[in-house]
Amino acid sequence: MKILVTGGLGFIGSHTVVELQNEGFEVVIIDDCSNSDVKVLDGISAITGVRPQFERFDLKEKSKVEDFFSRHSNVAGVIHFAASKAVGESVEKPLLYYENNIGTLVYLLKELSQKNTASFIFSSSCTVYGQADQMPITEDAPVKPAESPYGNTKQMGEEIIFDTCKVTSGLQAIALRYFNPMGAHPSVEIGELPVGVPQNLVPFITQTGIGMRDELSVFGDDYPTEDGTCIRDYIYVVDLARAHVLALKRLLEGKNAQNFEVFNVGTGKGSSVLEAIQSFERVSGKKLNYKVVDRRPGDVIEAYADTTKANTVLGWKAEYTLDQAMKSAWDWEQKIRD
Ligand code: WQD
Repeated sequence: MKILVTGGLGFIGSHTVVELQNEGFEVVIIDDCSNSDVKVLDGISAITGVRPQFERFDLKEKSKVEDFFSRHSNVAGVIHFAASKAVGESVEKPLLYYENNIGTLVYLLKELSQKNTASFIFSSSCTVYGQADQMPITEDAPVKPAESPYGNTKQMGEEIIFDTCKVTSGLQAIALRYFNPMGAHPSVEIGELPVGVPQNLVPFITQTGIGMRDELSVFGDDYPTEDGTCIRDYIYVVDLARAHVLALKRLLEGKNAQNFEVFNVGTGKGSSVLEAIQSFERVSGKKLNYKVVDRRPGDVIEAYADTTKANTVLGWKAEYTLDQAMKSAWDWEQKIRD
């Protein structure tokens, strides 16, 4: 069965391609390589023994999207990762984000709406909850006004899919609300490849550990949490990738209760910034150079998932601990800097 993975050369996309191929799916990737590298194809092939089909183009080119679906009329499902994801950049360049993340989603849904049946998995984010009133966060927690155009594209993306599913009986969709993805494949063939200075905590930690950065800035230690630093739910990327395959199978097998569903994908456990640093120090045997600086504007105090719905409905559960995921991130950092 053929599955289209947009953004399949990216961090979460590439790990998901591996899990799909391991389950026997035929994968075709569309990626414009704006934030990824064609060499990722070699990594995927090294792990699975199969080189996925790959087409390099930008999904904003509507005619190319139409042409793709006319040539691949047997695509049964789409997992849509391709999107811009830098929160700060989205504040500077809102229209770029609306065009990249919303325009392309509309083009894909238009194509899928013309099919008799189609399954669609959307990369959403815990960012839709903002600072939730209750922890852990369940899927029915209110969606809060977005802090950034990026966050807005995830909220609007979910609404666009919901509205489309309402009037398109053949279209089945699931939005996965990711908490904080991290780590690399255990084979160390694929992992995260941040462009420029990493904005996210874990790649900043490993780059500091390897000596690429002088020190990590910890953004605030005066939050109302146990150690004063923010709490997040760090989810291992391979666990997250498996959730996509289970969500897709749910749709392909017609087991979904509604034609649009949302699931949290996290571990259910919150970890502070200092706990993440301690985890790094444990698995690497290195002391991490860090200093506490001011809070970063827009950061929520804490966010961790109630994963009951994914556990019971998808039959999915995070298997890796923070230390295991951190070890994989560290192994990957050492390999790519070698
Ligand atoms: C984690 C914690 C920082 C860097 C991400 C995505 C966002 C959304 C949710 C995507 C926070 C602290 C970080 C550093 C630090 N998901 N930190 N020093 O903010 O939860 O957001 O996940 O789809 O788009 O960006 O993740 O990794 O940036 O930060 O102290 O140099 O680490 O303050 O508490 P965040 P993050």
